[in-house]
Order: sequence, then structure tokens, then C-alpha cells
Amino acid sequence: SLVSSTPLLRAARAGGYAVTAFNVHTLEMLQAVVEAATELDAPVILQSTMGTVQHLGEDFIVAAARVAAARTHVPVALHLDHCTDFGMIARCLRAGYTSIMIDASMKPYADNVRDTRRVVELASEIGVNVEAELGKVGGVEDDISVADHEATLADPDECVRFVAETGVPTLAPAIGTAHGIYKGDPNIDFDRIGRIASKVDVPLVLHGGSGIPEEQVKRAISLGMAKMNVATELRIVFTDAIKKVFAEKPGVDDPRHYLKPAKDALREAAKEKIRMCGAVGRA
Ligand code: 13P
Ligand code: ZN
Ligand code: NA
Repeated sequence: SLVSSTPLLRAARAGGYAVTAFNVHTLEMLQAVVEAATELDAPVILQSTMGTVQHLGEDFIVAAARVAAARTHVPVALHLDHCTDFGMIARCLRAGYTSIMIDASMKPYADNVRDTRRVVELASEIGVNVEAELGKVGGVEDDISVADHEATLADPDECVRFVAETGVPTLAPAIGTAHGIYKGDPNIDFDRIGRIASKVDVPLVLHGGSGIPEEQVKRAISLGMAKMNVATELRIVFTDAIKKVFAEKPGVDDPRHYLKPAKDALREAAKEKIRMCGAVGRA
């Protein structure tokens, strides 16, 4: 069955690796991610954004994730990514999600604290993990779009206060990564990661995982990042594989003929990210 991500992430922070969290949008993507984790004996987090919950329905997502979890020996958690809506959080909790991100990072600090506390109170009673964001991660993720000049980094002292005031078990501090593929290299503030990690002991979450060079991922993890989110690269790999099928055989009209290669390509891409996170053999 699906597990809470809290113990997985605590073990990752203590062990100096990160659990990879993948945004999935279709059944094949979900299956490919769990197959990748199974082959590498790694714990894994399946994530859906608000848009995907609207697209598929939280009950379908939970059902598929539960079947996938029942068929594997590795721990699987199901996380709601960047949620700004309490109604959707309540529905996903009822449906069986084991981890929730309340994203009130666009609101003033006091409102972020209030909203995050509210979700922590709901979730902690039923053993569900909660993640919140401080500062603003740049780029585009579903309906959340933050321009470069609006992106702000998390203040280490504010992180300490925020964790104390909310009791949030996992924190996503903005440290210079962005959603989407970078133009050039990301501008990660490693010193800031180190300062935050030295002051707060909860597992830290690295957003914007697509496009970060491997050595920078490893450095961020060595400093305290215990979860890495990957969305854009999976979408591109999956879609490119489908485009390739149609470029070579425009007459294909059986979904299995293009979804199978897409699933295979995604499984390999997910394995690469799991290896980068040092999560192989940690299940
Ligand atoms: P990328 O789209 O850059 O992989 O970011 C993923 C993410 O942070 C999801 O919350
Ligand atoms: Zn994110
Ligand atoms: Na990115």
C-alpha cells in the first residue's frame, strides 16, 4: 500500500541521498516510474499537480498508485504537488494521498504560516506528509507561473521560524532552481542550502529538478536536499518518443504502438534521475 513520504525523506536526509519525486499525467507514466524504482530498488514518490488531478480525478490516480504500490517491493508515496486549494487538498486526503504540498509561497509570510498550519493539522492526524514552500521558485509549473524577477530565495532565519511556527515536516526553500528547462545553467545558491540545512533538521525539497547538471544535483543533496522533483523532462521524453513514432509511421492508429515506446523512454529517464539522487538500493 502507499506509504507516507515523511519516513522516506527523513531516512534520505540522514543517509545523504534524495528520494526522486516524479510528476505523472497518465497511467503509462505512473507505471514507468514505479517500474524504474523497482528495477533500481529505490523508494519513490509519485506526484500529481492540481491540473492532473482535474484531468484524471484523484480517485483514479489513487487507485492506479495503489495497484502499482501493491505490485512492487519498494516503498511508494503519492504526493499532491503545488496545491493552492483547500478543497482539493481535502478531496485528495479523503481519496488516499499520503503527502500534500500546500503552496502559499505567493502569499505574505503570515498567510503562508496560517495556511500551512491548517494543512499540517489535517494531515498529521492521519499520518500524511506535508510540504510547504518558502521564497518563490521561478518558472512555470502548471498554472503557477513565476517570472525570473519575481522569484525570491528563502531566508535561512525565516526557514527556522516557519518550521517552528507550522510544524511542517518537509520544507521546499527556494534556492535558485526553477521549473522547466534552464536557459544555460541554473543559478543555485549552494551556500544558502548549507545555511538552511544547518538550521533546520526537516528534509529539504529541491524543486525544478529538470535540467540541473548531475554534479549540481549531487552537491545540493550533499548539503541537505532529501527530495528532488522532476516534471518537465519526463513530459518531454514521453512526448518526444510519441512524436518519433508518428514521424516514422504517420499511419499509426493504435495507442499502444506509441505509448509503449513512450513508456520505455520514460522508464530509462526516471532511472537516470534516481541514480543521480543516490537512491539506488535504498528501498
Ligand atoms: P521541473 O519541471 O523543472 O522538473 O520541476 C519539477 C517540480 O518542481 C515540480 O514541483
Ligand atoms: Zn515545484
Ligand atoms: Na527545472
